[in-house]
Amino acid sequence: MVRRPGGPAALRQTEIDIPEPGPGQVLVKVAAAGVNFIDTYRRSGVYRVDYPHIPGSEGAGSVAALGEAVTDWAVGDQVAWAESASGSYAEYALADAAQLLPVPPGLTLDVAAAIPLQGLTADYLTRSAYELGPEDHALIYAAAGGVGSLATQMALAAGARVIATVGSAAKIPAVAGFGVPGDDIVNLGALTDLTTALPAQVRERTDGQGAHVAYDGIGRDTFAATLASLRRRGLAVLYGGASGQVAPFDPQELNAHGSLYLTRPKLADYTATPAELRERAARVFGAVSARRLRVSIGARFPLADAARAHETLESRRSQGKIVLYL
Ligand SMILES: NC(=O)c1ccc[n+]([C@@H]2O[C@H](COP(=O)([O-])OP(=O)(O)OC[C@H]3O[C@@H](n4cnc5c(N)ncnc54)[C@H](OP(=O)(O)O)[C@@H]3O)[C@@H](O)[C@H]2O)c1
Repeated sequence: MVRRPGGPAALRQTEIDIPEPGPGQVLVKVAAAGVNFIDTYRRSGVYRVDYPHIPGSEGAGSVAALGEAVTDWAVGDQVAWAESASGSYAEYALADAAQLLPVPPGLTLDVAAAIPLQGLTADYLTRSAYELGPEDHALIYAAAGGVGSLATQMALAAGARVIATVGSAAKIPAVAGFGVPGDDIVNLGALTDLTTALPAQVRERTDGQGAHVAYDGIGRDTFAATLASLRRRGLAVLYGGASGQVAPFDPQELNAHGSLYLTRPKLADYTATPAELRERAARVFGAVSARRLRVSIGARFPLADAARAHETLESRRSQGKIVLYL
């Protein structure tokens, strides 16, 4: 629980009563919780929430009790969720029954907990924010990271050429393992001036044209390079701010870089109806079950070590997904 916004040490383990599910809700026994940047933003106060606050925006577990008028689920069903439950860093959470996702048989609950937020995000980024196809060159930052590793695999599956970035040489093998050729993996740690050197590297790999689309979840440190890496009328998909939020900027920059488009999307707008949520979830869970999509869990921590999990994510040392287990 977070009583007051602050650093990772603001996360404290506390005993509270098991909540009762209300109408349309389900009580879930949490088996694993995915760790996401949004949890750190809510912990630190970058995104304001009501405190005390139980963090955790996704997880997986089993149905422990049903609220009134819940007919779609039974006690014992294995389920996952994103942003539709009370905090997932807890032994029990209350979830909105209409937003719960079934976990396919054969998928472990820690892998299921790692999928909803980053997997559904990668799905909407590569299919809907921009629909990638074989003609496209896509610049994908933090390709060894949570969203980046999944978006990279989805982009390759769509036939696109991916120019992938990593922050250090240690992350290159993971990205190569997804099928990105070594020449298309750019180590940002080796560039002296990201803002000029990265666009030059992207242009070298795109016949001087630049990428059709750039997926930028790093934000403050990379946004200028993102705009400079796109081709005329390319699309900047600024979906996050792992390095900090992008400062207000002059829209004339879009003009100067070649009539660019910019979108700043969020998952809730791409899972706005139960049908859309279920369709995306079925596709992503199905791909993981069929081993067409690899969820790489880079670190697992017990719930009591949630602070260490946040430190790891914020330190830029993580690869793939960080999961808390109960
Ligand atoms: N809009 C949405 O729908 C949506 C959904 C999910 C997540 N997000 C956002 O997307 C961003 C990435 O999320 P994620 O869960 O996929 O994270 P992640 O990729 O697992 O971790 C962030 C990565 O960003 C890179 N990075 C570069 N500069 C950094 C810095 N100063 N501090 C920390 N990391 C830095 C690091 O990779 P390298 O070292 O390889 O550069 C790091 O591993 C977050 O801002 C998150 O809130 C948005």
